[in-house]
Amino acid sequence: MPDDVLLRTEQLTRAFGSLLAVDRVDVSVRRGELRSIIGPNGAGKTTFFRLISGEMPPSRGRIWFDGRDITGMPQYAVARLGVAKSYQITNVFPHLTVLENVRVAVQGHARAYDFWSKAARLSDVRTRAEMLLERIGLGPRATSLAAHLSHGEKRHLEIGIALATDPALLLPRAGRRPYGDPGRAQDEGRHEDLGPHHGAAPGPGAGRGLAGGDPRQHPRSADVPGGGALT
Ligand SMILES: Nc1ncnc2c1ncn2[C@@H]1O[C@H](COP(=O)(O)OP(=O)(O)OP(=O)(O)O)[C@@H](O)[C@H]1O
Ligand SMILES: [Mg+2]
Repeated sequence: MPDDVLLRTEQLTRAFGSLLAVDRVDVSVRRGELRSIIGPNGAGKTTFFRLISGEMPPSRGRIWFDGRDITGMPQYAVARLGVAKSYQITNVFPHLTVLENVRVAVQGHARAYDFWSKAARLSDVRTRAEMLLERIGLGPRATSLAAHLSHGEKRHLEIGIALATDPALLLPRAGRRPYGDPGRAQDEGRHEDLGPHHGAAPGPGAGRGLAGGDPRQHPRSADVPGGGALT
């Protein structure tokens, strides 16, 4: 696998009884690349994420992450390799400000890995938290209480908290158009701003055909409710 490929799946398949929720998906995601999964309800998007994160094992197929076969690895081990899920974030504190929320996350990560000496830690934590807020576009909301954020802004905050752990791969939370239109996000270079992400591309209907590619080129894109949904 070439060095710049971070995630690769080969014939990834997950069956629930006779239902094929994910059916022979081949996806390759490079470092720094932003990809999206889009598709109608029941297409298998969430199941695909669960397979990647180790939340459930595939029925068939393989998953490579950073050059290593992680197929069947438990979730904690996959997380340790640097796969973060903003969709499982439970530690958004509504009564803390946006900046404080990200600071707590940065601080927790710094403590866990003992990155900095005690003296350097506090100011570095604040600087890093402010940098992350800028990256996710919440700089102007730094002093707002998290409880006062809009639905979309909360999703961004969750991404900021996930990025505080410096993940190699970020699986963003379910939700519609977290970054706006996927095509425009690319034009604006937001995929770089937001760091490595993953995704596959559109799949028609339940259980068949999550496949790589550009959503704008996909013949079924027009059928996707809300176009560019990521759920
Ligand atoms: N744990 C499970 N047991 C049995 N069937 C499941 C399970 N998880 C998902 N499914 C089925 O697999 C199919 C794909 O579900 P999945 O949740 O991955 O779709 P999705 O693309 O995320 O849909 P949505 O847009 O509604 O979130 C659906 O038919 C669903 O009912
Ligand atoms: Mg889903």
